[in-house]
Amino acid sequence: MPSRAAAVVRGSVPWSESRHRRSRIGTEIRTFIEPADLRRALVADVREGLTPRPRTLPPKYFYDARGSRLFEEITRLPEYYLTRAERSILLRAASSLVAGVHPASLVELGSGSSGKTEIVLDAGEREGSLRAYAPIDVSRDAIERAVVRLAGRYPELDIVGIVGDFHEDLELPFAGAARLVLLLGSTIGNFGPDEARAFAGRVRGHLSVSDAFLVGFDLVKDRRELLAAYDDTRGVTAAFNRNVLRVLNDRLGSDFDPDAFRHRADWNEEESRIEMHLVSDRRQTVSLPSLDLELEFEPGESIRTELSHKYTRESATALLEDGSFEVERWETDEEDRFGLALARPR
Ligand SMILES: C[S@@+](CC[C@H](N)C(=O)[O-])C[C@H]1O[C@@H](n2cnc3c(N)ncnc32)[C@H](O)[C@@H]1O
Repeated sequence: MPSRAAAVVRGSVPWSESRHRRSRIGTEIRTFIEPADLRRALVADVREGLTPRPRTLPPKYFYDARGSRLFEEITRLPEYYLTRAERSILLRAASSLVAGVHPASLVELGSGSSGKTEIVLDAGEREGSLRAYAPIDVSRDAIERAVVRLAGRYPELDIVGIVGDFHEDLELPFAGAARLVLLLGSTIGNFGPDEARAFAGRVRGHLSVSDAFLVGFDLVKDRRELLAAYDDTRGVTAAFNRNVLRVLNDRLGSDFDPDAFRHRADWNEEESRIEMHLVSDRRQTVSLPSLDLELEFEPGESIRTELSHKYTRESATALLEDGSFEVERWETDEEDRFGLALARPR
């Protein structure tokens, strides 16, 4: 058995050049976003998002080490049906989905803990074609923990963890043999409609006809059930939401008081989405000295921190078709809460 290597490689080569050059199985972590890059992007996003009203922040800043752990806690909450529903679909359908693609590799966008991915990896190993797995996430902590765990569990797989922003360097590794690209956990819901279409189109641009794209969509349902999933009784989602202010304080030296902001989840029927907000509970001034910025908050004024769009089979199909995919399979859980689309490049 070849010895396993764990290397940290700085990301100076495009991901597309990094395909399977290594002659032996191992694990590796490639870094395409350094703390300094993340900070530069954060400065620009904070200026752009928090200066004008209404105020917004992109969701990727939730996921420092603490935020990634809080998200994992959310996935285990009784109210958060999404992970259980998607898991149940994978448990039932992963083998047949994988058999249809016969992938040599899995590439996962926004992989987080890669927990549910193990169901797909198991199916790939049973099927016999799978050789490699690349989780891609903006959270270094999530990638490091997943790579270490999966290396122990799948010693025959080549595992390349990629710390990167899927909106930026969208070069996907392991081109040349069939790839199954995963976007699970309703991450697609965090994109606005135009952004989601553009994202699907960019993924399509990197795939060849033997590749496939497996996307998890949270489905439209009763608003009370949706709202409960984003505002649990134990306050874990509230802690996750407020954590973004801690991230800003850590990385920018700002003086947000997270306890002076209340978590709120709204259902926007017209846009078919949950919106998460942090609502200022008083008049307050927050200073961001590194941006030379002072922000005034009125009582009740909010920062919108996340969108989570809910789809129907029709709207999910239309989105993928707009990105030049054809939906080959559509699977839901028993209660039609969540949908998985297996799409092929057109
Ligand atoms: C909703 S969670 C889903 C996690 C996991 N796929 C699951 O199904 O449980 C979104 C994941 O995407 C990652 N993420 C968010 N924005 C990202 C970006 N711009 N680039 C790469 N990863 C990102 C987060 O760190 C997080 O792990």
